[in-house]
Amino acid sequence: MEFQAMVAHETDSGIALVREEVTDDFLMPGEVTIKVHFSSANYKDGLAITPRGGVVRRYPLIPGIDLTGEVTASDDPEFAPGDLVVAHGYDIGVAHHGGFAEYARVPAGWVVKLDGLTPREAAAIGTAGYTAAMSVQALLDAGLTPDAGPVLVTGATGGVGSVAVDILSGLGFEVVASTGKLGASELLSTLGAKSVIGRLPGEEKVRALGKAQWAAAVDSVGGASLAYVLSSITYGGAVAASGLTGGSDLPTTVMPFILRGVSLLGIDSAHFPIARRRELWARLAKDLKPQHLSLLENYAPITEAESVLHTILDGTHSGRSVLGAAGEF
Ligand SMILES: NC(=O)c1ccc[n+]([C@@H]2O[C@H](COP(=O)([O-])OP(=O)(O)OC[C@H]3O[C@@H](n4cnc5c(N)ncnc54)[C@H](OP(=O)(O)O)[C@@H]3O)[C@@H](O)[C@H]2O)c1
Repeated sequence: MEFQAMVAHETDSGIALVREEVTDDFLMPGEVTIKVHFSSANYKDGLAITPRGGVVRRYPLIPGIDLTGEVTASDDPEFAPGDLVVAHGYDIGVAHHGGFAEYARVPAGWVVKLDGLTPREAAAIGTAGYTAAMSVQALLDAGLTPDAGPVLVTGATGGVGSVAVDILSGLGFEVVASTGKLGASELLSTLGAKSVIGRLPGEEKVRALGKAQWAAAVDSVGGASLAYVLSSITYGGAVAASGLTGGSDLPTTVMPFILRGVSLLGIDSAHFPIARRRELWARLAKDLKPQHLSLLENYAPITEAESVLHTILDGTHSGRSVLGAAGEF
């Protein structure tokens, strides 16, 4: 079998993402072969085409940490040709060829059968949206209810942030959206945000304990923003932290934890175990389904992946970018 792929190569001048024809033996071991319908653009995919981005373990590599599509061959009894599936995380797009191609081959233990979502909807959710769902679930597990008070979402126009706003408002929470793109207020309101504020901490100094304002937060920004958020959570509240677009440091103190009983909940989607991963995807088709996916989604053919990823890296990207593979090479 010969097929088209976008292959990332390390060169003297950086990482080049090149459209190439490859053969079946280019794919890595795995029980399930998938005709890719869609991939998507995540922050991590941006890092995959960044020199010293710190996520890719070997080049040349087909990037794309998300892939959705149709099984064409399976050596595992759980999957059969024609099954519609999503696979994301684990080594996909960082050490195992990913979704920026017409075909992918992955271990069966990384694959989720779609039930109630189309491949396009699953790609629009993708890793970022799945991380938003994990964050919301972690807050619900910590006891958060809509009557507890407003819930803050930082990086609100980003992939994780925008899907978190959508899911939380759909569940009846009062959502406060923090964004650097104040021109996006209307979109965030349509997703269900009750109010829209600027990036945090803005001009404010981060205190060990600030004014208690939010019952909980979904944070994918990290850095000083996360420190400010922790200092502003009401008694007994929680913050689900998944990202570092604002920095990987955390200049905070223990005060929010020991004086307000605030919990910091770590979120990792990449190695989330497959059984729980499949359960949460099933809920993403039901009670946790984002209500405004078509509004959040931008579409581009996968051959334009590089320019879409640059908007993620320069901070101008918003929502979720679906990258079409089938018929787009
Ligand atoms: N833990 C996990 O499993 C997991 C999974 C997925 C993603 N992540 C991480 O979560 C983060 C977001 O990923 P994503 O795919 O949602 O990326 P994204 O679509 O690029 O969104 C990131 C958002 O962060 C905000 N932002 C950008 N630069 C910033 C800065 N310098 N300071 C403060 N805010 C900034 C922007 O939102 P506004 O303009 O609205 O402020 C931007 O839209 C990344 O760090 C990613 O690595 C982690």
